Amino acid sequence: MKHLIVIALCSILCALILLMACSAPPDGKTVFIESGCARCHEINGAGGSQAPRLQDLQSKWTPESLEKFLIDPPAYANDNARLLAYTKKYPVPMPKLEIAPARRKILVQYLLKRYP
Ligand code: HEC
Repeated sequence: MKHLIVIALCSILCALILLMACSAPPDGKTVFIESGCARCHEINGAGGSQAPRLQDLQSKWTPESLEKFLIDPPAYANDNARLLAYTKKYPVPMPKLEIAPARRKILVQYLLKRYP
């Protein structure tokens, strides 16, 4: 009988751990890579050179403006002289990518923290 209770408790614990692991939000680096950003942008010294190096983002962006840019980069870049100059320097302008709002928020936090 005691064994059964121990097994039952262990099972519940396992189920809880699994549930927590599955519902934990992905981290910023994972979203960055899964969204295809690293195809063009460098990360940790690796990745694409088809785009400007992401650095000093905090001095250029607020969380709100960066989110707006990520929703529609071409439209945003059209009104921004600095980004417009980049679009002429690199082979392809930053494309519009489908990113779920929750993942975009994670990305914004990551970019402003990871690339100070
Ligand atoms: C096809 C290549 C490409 C991909 C994929 C791409 N970018 Fe870009 N990105 C660019 C280019 C080129 C620019 C320069 C500005 C422009 O084109 O609008 C840029 C600009 C940026 C900037 C502004 C940099 C600055 O100096 O302020 C940020 C931030 C950025 N990208 C983040 C991302 C994120 C996050 C992703 C993934 C969701 C991503 N990019 C995917 C090419 C790309």
